[in-house]
Amino acid sequence: MSSITGKTKVCGIIGDPVEHSMSPAMHNAAFRALGLDYAYLPFRVCREELQNAVAGLRALNVVGLNVTIPHKVAVMSFLDKLDPLAERIGAVNTIVNDDGVLTGYNTDAPGFLQTMRSKNIEPEGKNIVILGAGGASKGISFILAGAGASLVILNRTRSRAEELAAQVSQIYQRQVEVVALNKKNMARALDGADILVNTTSVGMVPGIEQTPVPAGLLKPRLVVFDIVYNPLETRLLREAKAAGARTIDGLDMLVGQGALAFEKWTGQKAPLAVMKQAAVKALKNEG
Ligand SMILES: NC(=O)c1ccc[n+]([C@@H]2O[C@H](COP(=O)([O-])OP(=O)(O)OC[C@H]3O[C@@H](n4cnc5c(N)ncnc54)[C@H](OP(=O)(O)O)[C@@H]3O)[C@@H](O)[C@H]2O)c1
Repeated sequence: MSSITGKTKVCGIIGDPVEHSMSPAMHNAAFRALGLDYAYLPFRVCREELQNAVAGLRALNVVGLNVTIPHKVAVMSFLDKLDPLAERIGAVNTIVNDDGVLTGYNTDAPGFLQTMRSKNIEPEGKNIVILGAGGASKGISFILAGAGASLVILNRTRSRAEELAAQVSQIYQRQVEVVALNKKNMARALDGADILVNTTSVGMVPGIEQTPVPAGLLKPRLVVFDIVYNPLETRLLREAKAAGARTIDGLDMLVGQGALAFEKWTGQKAPLAVMKQAAVKALKNEG
């Protein structure tokens, strides 16, 4: 996008707050790189205005929207159609406006899977330990179980992990193990694991000196994926690298979900490297 014209197509993100989002930088860089006449804007929308904001999408012919906290669940009831995966996960982060018909998708979980596969890591048949059972864990657990992985879930609030495991087992017909979050259980789970995914917010700013896993449990043959992206290198990733493990940072997942949304809105393949570079720069500016 060199400049805004009368033909410029508008995309954006709704959330509250939305000021810290890296998506505007990421998408506008991608539009520029491909010479697309699109612009991506942040819209701060409070809960009370969510329904009006969605109606405004149709009225203003906004072509696509990302949805972030706190609207990912509530927005579903204002859309015309839901992609089956978004419906199953129970959260929408991407809306496509097709001539006034609004369809909700979840690209967070597929973005996670695509990131793994882009690094030649195939979850099928792998033993994967998932830390956390919150919103992000739900999509990730569903998509990994759907891809044929065996899961062990550990969460501070055990009942939440049990609820999630029951859903995964019911939908994907796979047994999911749940163990209480303590060092002994973690050691046992990691002993037989191929991949560790941290979906908890432990290690995120401002608590950057915290880690969800004691360093001594990290092994060279493990792939460690931390979905926290601020900081880019969490203590968990730093210690995993030092232990010789392969690491994947949370920004890759953020770029992955953005890339899938970009492709739905533009029909073009997303320039992943451009998007990651813009996200890294935005994150640095964020401090
Ligand atoms: N890279 C990406 O694209 C991406 C996408 C989505 C989210 N994220 C990041 O993922 C993290 C989680 O997001 P979310 O939406 O899933 O949040 P959420 O629904 O609030 O879940 C938070 C999870 O972290 C656990 N947790 C929080 N503080 C803890 C502590 N002190 N000790 C142990 N466990 C703790 C919670 O356990 P309890 O159930 O016991 O409370 C829960 O499992 C955030 O840092 C977010 O920024 C990244």
